[in-house]
Amino acid sequence: MFETKVYVERRNRLRKMFRTGLLLFVGNGESPMNYPSNAYRFRQDSTFLYYWGINYPDCAAVIDIDKDTECLYMNDVDIDDIIWMGPQESVKEKGARVGVNSVYPHKDLFTSINSAVRLGRKIHFLPQYRQDNAEMLSTLLGIKSKHIKNYVSQKFIKAVVDMRSTKDEYEIEEIEKACNIGYKMHTTVMKMCKPGLMEYELAGAIEGITIANNGYISFPVILSQNVHTLHNHDHSQKLAENRMLITDAGAENEMNYCSDFTRTIPVNGKFTQKQKDIYNIVLAANSKAIELAKPDVTYKSIHLEIAKIITRGLCNLGVMCGNVDEAVENGAHALFLPHGLGHMMGLDVHDMENLGENYVGYDDEVLRSSQFGTSSLRMGRRLQKNFVVTDEPGIYFIPELIAKWKSEKINKDFINYDKVNEYMDVSGVRIEDDLLVTENGCRLLGKKRIPVTVEEIEEIMKK
Ligand code: GLY
Repeated sequence: MFETKVYVERRNRLRKMFRTGLLLFVGNGESPMNYPSNAYRFRQDSTFLYYWGINYPDCAAVIDIDKDTECLYMNDVDIDDIIWMGPQESVKEKGARVGVNSVYPHKDLFTSINSAVRLGRKIHFLPQYRQDNAEMLSTLLGIKSKHIKNYVSQKFIKAVVDMRSTKDEYEIEEIEKACNIGYKMHTTVMKMCKPGLMEYELAGAIEGITIANNGYISFPVILSQNVHTLHNHDHSQKLAENRMLITDAGAENEMNYCSDFTRTIPVNGKFTQKQKDIYNIVLAANSKAIELAKPDVTYKSIHLEIAKIITRGLCNLGVMCGNVDEAVENGAHALFLPHGLGHMMGLDVHDMENLGENYVGYDDEVLRSSQFGTSSLRMGRRLQKNFVVTDEPGIYFIPELIAKWKSEKINKDFINYDKVNEYMDVSGVRIEDDLLVTENGCRLLGKKRIPVTVEEIEEIMKK
């Protein structure tokens, strides 16, 4: 937990953005795996953590702007709980640690919200992603749970996005720690990887590293020799000679801050020429984003620049053809890069995605593209100092997508399918780093960069 004043100041800043009404915060409850008392690892809601810091199930909080009060609602454990869980800090003590003296039993939340509803007061709340919380809001507010999303407060969403987008120095320190765990995860894969190993042996080893560092994975590990499947959580294959292996994985440290890295390596430790051809184009795109990222530049413009690097590189190999600018304008690169350059990162790996991607990554000035590929870009708006974003370009040879474009003659003037066939067995490459936007540019997060050049990867894999 950060110092008390961090949470007090955050809430004070937030309150100043509102003139009237109540701000209702809903924390997460336990989520059962197969019966109620056998739960998944508890994960608090990130916005709740940001303002209230309490990493404990079944909490709620209310800031009453008109009355200038703030209250926490949570229950103390009873003797039965203590028998099974051991003694616990009281809810009063928990509240005091984040500067809140008014702590009430959870049931009092209903009385308090009910009376505000009866008085017709404005109750600001955020979008819900857990059904149990939507049901609770439904009971509190008298709105059917399926309609809750229609009543969320845009003002509240925008205020939270505004505050959480710019990371404080002490948050950056936590993200760095998560990145350092990420370094261990990825270098472990590089050192262990060899033909004959099962994917799950690697996936399990790196998930274990997060737990051994008092953290957890920031999202389910993506580790597969089917690199062309963007988010493959199946780890059942045996690693084969001459295949590439993608590992897209990050850690969440003990303060719940995240990292997210991707490396693509040759299973046998030595790139073939064709693998190297594709790898070096993706690395050039990743480097270009690092070169361009700085305050006031839109991430969408950087996405389009790296799309040109990828198109130019593929044209040089004969896989694509024609004018590079025209190809990118027509979205031809998306056959090989059907996703965006990156996303915001912080307490969530896709930071604040639960509040709505467009609130986080776009604004009135930079709008989301509707073109296939670029439409998947999560972060498009202007960068600002202390934003944290991922830089994750890729090139993929997705058989089904290639077959569709070929048969439907989509962007046919820019694609050379005979040459595409020659590269199908590369499957794909994605390279991802985490960037902190600084005063005049950006810097890579993490104490040491995970090996990234062909030479560095071959070197560490040799060991
Ligand atoms: N690295 C996983 C993702 O960005 O979705």
